[in-house]
Amino acid sequence: MSITLKVNGKTHSVDVDADTPLLWVLRDELRLTGTKYGCGISQCGACTVHLDGSPTRSCVLPVQSVGDRSVTTIEGLESPAAAAVQKAWAEMDVPQCGYCQSGQVMSAVGLLEQTPQPDDDAIDGAMRGNVCRCATYQRIRAAIHRAAGELEA
Ligand code: FES
Ligand code: FES
Repeated sequence: MSITLKVNGKTHSVDVDADTPLLWVLRDELRLTGTKYGCGISQCGACTVHLDGSPTRSCVLPVQSVGDRSVTTIEGLESPAAAAVQKAWAEMDVPQCGYCQSGQVMSAVGLLEQTPQPDDDAIDGAMRGNVCRCATYQRIRAAIHRAAGELEA
């Protein structure tokens, strides 16, 4: 069936089964391959996108349930918090293999947009669902603190 989606500020029509996970529409139909597949069962966070600004697992979200909510992927992330996170990630060399990192960045930006000055508990709570097999957790937490400092300044 034909489904209309708003992704990164643009409207797209895609012809897919209504229960296709949003992840596969983004990757296979729209060629937005920055959003990754990790587990497919909402357990790793690699597929995180924003739905009306809230971090959401796209691997378990049927595309028909997106409705008129705005989808933002790593390719379309634009905000002061996004800029601060991307800068901090680069300055602190956060990624190792990089596979999980677009999901990590989406969750970190979602956190800072709701809580601009998070403490360690808030960071750990917001990032708990994002798994990193390279164990970059300490750098992620430090980079979020750095990004928060940049936003405060
Ligand atoms: S691929 Fe969606 S949470 Fe793992
Ligand atoms: S950087 Fe390799 S899985 Fe996170």
